Formats: sequence, C-alpha cells, structure tokens
Amino acid sequence: MKLPKAESFKIKMVEAIRPSTIDERLKWIKEANFNLFNLKSEQVFIDLLTDSGTGAMSDKQWSEMMLGDESYAGASYYYKLKNAIQDITGFEYFLPTHQGRAAENVLFSTIINEGDIIPGNSHFDTTKAHIEHRKSYAIDCTIDEAFDTEVNHPFKGNIDIVKLEKVLTENQVEKIPLIIVTITCNSSGGQPVSMQNMKNVSKIAKKYGIPVYYDSARFAENAYFIKKREKGYSDKSIREIVKEMFSYADGMTMSSKKDAIVNMGGFLGLRHKEVFDRASVFNILYEGFNTYGGMSGRDMNALAQGLYDGTELSYLETRINQVAFLGQMLKDKGIPVQFPFGGHAIFVDAKKFLPHLPKEEFIAQTLAVELYIEGGVRAVEIGSIMADRDPDSGLNRYPDLELMRLAIPRRTYTNDHMKYVAASIINVFERRSKITKGLIITKEAPILRHFTVELDRA
Ligand code: F0G
Repeated sequence: MKLPKAESFKIKMVEAIRPSTIDERLKWIKEANFNLFNLKSEQVFIDLLTDSGTGAMSDKQWSEMMLGDESYAGASYYYKLKNAIQDITGFEYFLPTHQGRAAENVLFSTIINEGDIIPGNSHFDTTKAHIEHRKSYAIDCTIDEAFDTEVNHPFKGNIDIVKLEKVLTENQVEKIPLIIVTITCNSSGGQPVSMQNMKNVSKIAKKYGIPVYYDSARFAENAYFIKKREKGYSDKSIREIVKEMFSYADGMTMSSKKDAIVNMGGFLGLRHKEVFDRASVFNILYEGFNTYGGMSGRDMNALAQGLYDGTELSYLETRINQVAFLGQMLKDKGIPVQFPFGGHAIFVDAKKFLPHLPKEEFIAQTLAVELYIEGGVRAVEIGSIMADRDPDSGLNRYPDLELMRLAIPRRTYTNDHMKYVAASIINVFERRSKITKGLIITKEAPILRHFTVELDRA
C-alpha cells in the first residue's frame, strides 16, 4: 500500500476553539454590519480571513524569541536578520519595517511621485492604495488566463509582456519609477509567477531602464510552484530557486507575516546603496531607527529563523498539499474555484457560485456572509468591495474576478478542519438558489473600505 502524505510537524501547544449555533451567528453577523472584520475572533470557529500573521511559530522560532537583544541600536538581532536576508534573497541592503505595507510606504515615499504609473500583476490592495494615495496609477498587466478560473495555466500570476511593453511605450519612462511583480499574486488567486516570466520582465525593464521590485510576501510558495511546475527546476532546492528569482529584481518589499511565519514584521531588501540611503530617511521617520524599524529584537530573531523554516521543502509540501486538499474536496463537488489551486488559499468564484445575484449586491461578500452563518467559518471578499471606488470617477469598480478567499494559516489547522470547511461550503452550495438577495453598502471609507465597510441586506 502506498503510504499517504502526512504533516511534517507534530503539535506542542494548542489553543481551544469553540463552535457556535446558527442563531448566535445570525445575531453576531448583523451586529457586525455584515462585515466579517467586525466579528470578535471568539465568534469564529475556523478563521480563514487571512494567512497573514496567523501561523504557528516553530520551537526554533520560539527559542529565538528568548534570545532577543532589546538594545535600541546595533543589537545582535539586526545582524542575524541582515545575514539571513542576504543568505536567502541575495540582497545586500535591508531595512526592517513593522509589516509589509510599511515597507511599501517607505519604498514608495522614496521613489514614487504624483502622476506616476506603476505596472504590475494585480497589485495587492495595500500596494494599490499606497500608489493611489500618492495620486499615482497602478496598471494591471496580469495575463488574461488569470481572469478565467476554469483555465488551467501553471503560472496564472505571470505578467503579460505585451501589456507591459504597451504601458512602457505609451508613457514617458520618467513617469514609471518601478514595475511591481507580486509573488505569488494574491489578488489573482495566490497564483505563481514563472522564472521565465521574471527573466522576461527583467529584460524588458532593463531595456527601458526601469527598476523591478518584488512584492514578496509569499516568495517561498512561489519557488515551490516553480520547482513543481517549471521545466529545469525539479532538481533545484527551494533556496537555489529563491536566490535565482531575486537575482532578477532590484529590490523587494516583504510582509514577513506570510512566508517568514511570524505574527508581525516586514522588511525592504535592496540592491542599490543609493536607494537604501534615501529610503533610510523615511524608515527612521515612519518606522524607527534602521536597526529595528518598528520591531522588537525578539520578533526580528524569530523572523530570521522563519525565513529558514519557510524555505524548507518539507514544510512547503505540507502547506501546499493542505491547501490543495481543501481545493480538491470543493472541486469534486462542482464548486467553482480558481484552478490550479493557489499557494496560500482557495479562491471560490462567487459569480459562478451565485450567478443569479447582480454585481451591485456584492456577490463575494454575500457568499462569505452565508458561509459564516452556515458554519462559523470566516473567509474574506476579494472582489468589488475590496476594489474600492475609482479615485477619478468615484464610481464602484467591478473587477473581472469576484472571489471569496479561504486563506489557510500556516501550521495552524488540521485536515479535519479542512473537511469541516468543505462541508460548510457544500451546504451553502446546495441551498444557493435560495440566496436571492445580496448586500448593499450603508457606510464606507474613501480608501481600503473593506476593512470598515458597513452593509445591510439588499
Ligand atoms: N503584499 C501582499 C501580496 C499581501 O498579501 C499583503 C498582505 C501585503 C503586501 C501587505 O502586508 O499586511 O504585512 O502590511 N496581505 C494580507 C492578506 C493582509 O490577508 O492577504 P501587511
């Protein structure tokens, strides 16, 4: 008998979670104004809102917490993290920040000006918001295949080189301070970017003299997919692949809450001293002195260790197999999900799940609310609420993909939890024709509205 795959860890500490009743959840979601961010975590049974900062640290990471040196300047943790970043990514310069969007803030303060144009692959919401907040424009150059959840393409995070070149030729090069490649591409479904695509982007960027930065939150998952899916990489180690990936970039922003498996942290990795010097000023202004940048010494130690944990093949195999385990259970029941499955989450195609609802009634948010009511499972909308209004016209933006994301925290839930999640979604699927009304917005913020939006039944 072929032995089944099993998790590459055993559990040393647990946290109790409590199921609730449908009546309780109906009351709580109404009190939360149908915004899942407003729920108390104790009102949630299985929390798939995000994989960000919600993973379980390893025994090695916890040991590093105890070794944290809390000196203000020049502490040992700074050198430990600097060496780890250099070792894993190859970037010589680095600035610590308290999380990923802070790294974006520091980098963009350094190199983006009003009216600039920043092409990329489905920029993440904080990235886009930091661009639009500076009255600049994020142009999506993701390949078309990404927007059809049924098309089977191994690298749906890829940049369409023709679309990119069009942006570069139709605009003044001085107005394009960088190209952002998000690895993996969260907004299109946790989809990877191929090594060949990274090479092609680098080549075209060099031709026009434009720097390339990677939004690297899930860089290790991206490397795993390259190993599994791209010709010529199956015998390479994850760390060799990671090194090669970053060799095609001028720098990276990092939310360490994902693939470095810490609860809080981020950084900027940079190749050029001149950018580092300019960015340092903003880092001190917004984040803190350059040797700690908004983090405690103990957190930086755990982060350095997390970069090694997160790039272990056995860990990545367990992680990505668990995501696929959930995805396959849903696909087998005919539930429309982004395929192939992504690295950190399963993305349910809400327009195909609830085809009878109008887009003005926020289909993916409606689905996420129904899933919560059904099983106490918290997912998140990646759709038209998150897309915000167009800053120029003030009109709602309706992206091609209207998704409900089930993000799996790292090393946190078991496969039985995944079975529970799948059963909850299947139950909603079976009663989908009875969901005849969506949601309308009653209150919203001008930017990043999904965090605080208030809704009611349409
Ligand atoms: N870039 C990507 C691709 C992300 O997914 C995130 C965060 C960020 C940048 C910002 O990092 O949260 O540390 O400030 N994504 C989380 C999510 C919030 O749920 O996908 P941060």
